[in-house]
Amino acid sequence: MIDEVSIYFFIEFSPKELRKLYLKLNKVFQSAIIPAKAYKAFSTWRFARTFALKPFAMRFHSRKWVKPEDLNANGTLFGGRVLSWIDEEAVIYAIIQLENKRVVTKYMSEINFMSSAVEGDIVELGIEVVKFGKSSLTLNCEVRNKMTLETILTVDNIILVNLDENGKPAPHGKTKIEYVEERLADKEN
Ligand SMILES: CC(C)(COP(=O)(O)OP(=O)(O)OC[C@H]1O[C@@H](n2cnc3c(N)ncnc32)[C@H](O)[C@@H]1OP(=O)(O)O)[C@@H](O)C(=O)NCCC(=O)NCCS
Repeated sequence: MIDEVSIYFFIEFSPKELRKLYLKLNKVFQSAIIPAKAYKAFSTWRFARTFALKPFAMRFHSRKWVKPEDLNANGTLFGGRVLSWIDEEAVIYAIIQLENKRVVTKYMSEINFMSSAVEGDIVELGIEVVKFGKSSLTLNCEVRNKMTLETILTVDNIILVNLDENGKPAPHGKTKIEYVEERLADKEN
């Protein structure tokens, strides 16, 4: 299961080289494979830099076009707008994974705005599963510029809770990422 495999690289790079490698790998795999925070942490380490690559872990499903109504008074992407995009993306992801429409956002951890976006930019939203709980699902999110792959913001933990018909937390019974195509194929067999 490639999603559960972490590959560790022990290398020495200058921050510039590391940035180039980060962009190249993202381009090759067409998904964010190095969490932005790992890049940031290790790019400040002067000598040996260690970071973990999680191939194909984060998938960028949605793209958004930054329009005039998405801007703040500074003319850049409004934080509240991007948070609503993230919340919707996370809930959609959880509904598909947990196969239940009654999913609510319980908690969002620290949000780190790293760069900005301006009108006309295309941004994309990536989601990665951190943990399957009993009634909860913990996700990690990155928003980045589609054209430059520069990280705009990251949210480490978004916790969503699976509810029953009475609106109470209910066990979802899921333990790993599932794909709709595989579910349908299983049903056919
Ligand atoms: C979601 C809600 C039903 C959870 O109720 P609750 O009494 O906190 O439920 P529990 O204590 O049983 O916790 C449920 C799960 O959330 C997790 N959780 C609860 N609070 C948490 C927190 N602050 N941080 C991390 N996880 C938390 C618990 O660990 C548990 O996970 P698990 O079952 O996988 O072990 C309730 O808080 C609620 O209705 N909140 C409003 C949700 C909402 O309207 N969201 C906004 C828009 S969608």
